[in-house]
Amino acid sequence: MENTSYKIAVLSGDGIGPEVVNESIKVLNTVSKIYQITFDYTEASVGAKAIFETGNPLPDDTLEVCKNSDAVLFGAIGDPSFDNNPSAKVRPEQGLLALRSELGLYANIRPIKAYPTLSSISPLKAEVFEGTDMVIFRELVSGIYFGEKKISQDGTEASDLCVYKKHEIERIAHLAFQEALKRRKKVTLVDKANVLETSRLWRKTCQEIAAEYPDVEMDFLFVDNAAMQLILNPKRFDIILTENMFGDIISDEGSVIGGSIGLLPSASVGEKTAMFEPIHGSYPQAKGKKIANPMASILSAAMMLDYLGEKTAADHIVFSVEQAIANGVVSIDLNSKKYFSTGFIGDYICKSLEQDIEFFHQENVEIGKSTII
Ligand code: IPM
Ligand code: MG
Repeated sequence: MENTSYKIAVLSGDGIGPEVVNESIKVLNTVSKIYQITFDYTEASVGAKAIFETGNPLPDDTLEVCKNSDAVLFGAIGDPSFDNNPSAKVRPEQGLLALRSELGLYANIRPIKAYPTLSSISPLKAEVFEGTDMVIFRELVSGIYFGEKKISQDGTEASDLCVYKKHEIERIAHLAFQEALKRRKKVTLVDKANVLETSRLWRKTCQEIAAEYPDVEMDFLFVDNAAMQLILNPKRFDIILTENMFGDIISDEGSVIGGSIGLLPSASVGEKTAMFEPIHGSYPQAKGKKIANPMASILSAAMMLDYLGEKTAADHIVFSVEQAIANGVVSIDLNSKKYFSTGFIGDYICKSLEQDIEFFHQENVEIGKSTII
């Protein structure tokens, strides 16, 4: 069989980004030993790192590298030196937003799944938590994030415009319905149609599209109610379809269901090169401490392989991550009494991929008995 080669842009970014992406690269390199796949990586800078180097959170050459790649593997961006300074002229987040916009990544796909062995760390009761399995489709390049922003001359009045065009709703709605057909065939539109004109356009457009998918059940929830239902009854959701800012908020809320935001991957797809990133941020407090959970990044790499058509390799990674979780090989966010370093978890997953479970000598690597952290 011929070897397939993929060009991957690696934008590891700020904070724990480089540490978690490093583990994903290890995993991809292991996959490439097992399957007939090779990866040709090109690193490029983005976010605070790029601001410090060039003054621009998305330098032109970084964008070029992304456009010329088959996929982008993204780490995280953000730096405390900008967070507490509302008058900063450039911000790391602008790099990510510009990248999403430039690549036309209109759909951000965030799966949320309850891993049975983590039931004890979920803030939800086991019977509420168990069986949760949903995918959030968040619109990513329009709405209030990208509408006109204004501040009055005297600095006492500000506005952010929320604009949606029908075609921007249609394109992501089709993706959501198509995914629903492969799952439990239910789409929930989350909006605020009792108040917002943009939400009413979402509702009307989605009702029209639903007619094209008679096998898919569609229902509607106002975002405030959806926030409540996510915690009361997460099992009711299969696909959640929503606009940019509601999606940002409810996906962080959804992430706690499973026990840790450190587990959640995402894919951003659209017109050009797709991008794969954990939903967590740069977690600067953890930088360099080797405590970051690499699983969200590794699972993002698996989503990338799936997108590239390498489904077996993608499933294999997911299987190995699940095995690590089941065997308690997790980071401090998932078990504060017995946890493993970022690098150890990556190595374990690689070994598991190669089916050498013997590698795991628990007594040697427990905290306090080893030097791994
Ligand atoms: C996310 C993040 C970003 C967003 C930030 C970093 C701009 O919170 O990907 O969810 O708001 O979209
Ligand atoms: Mg967010």
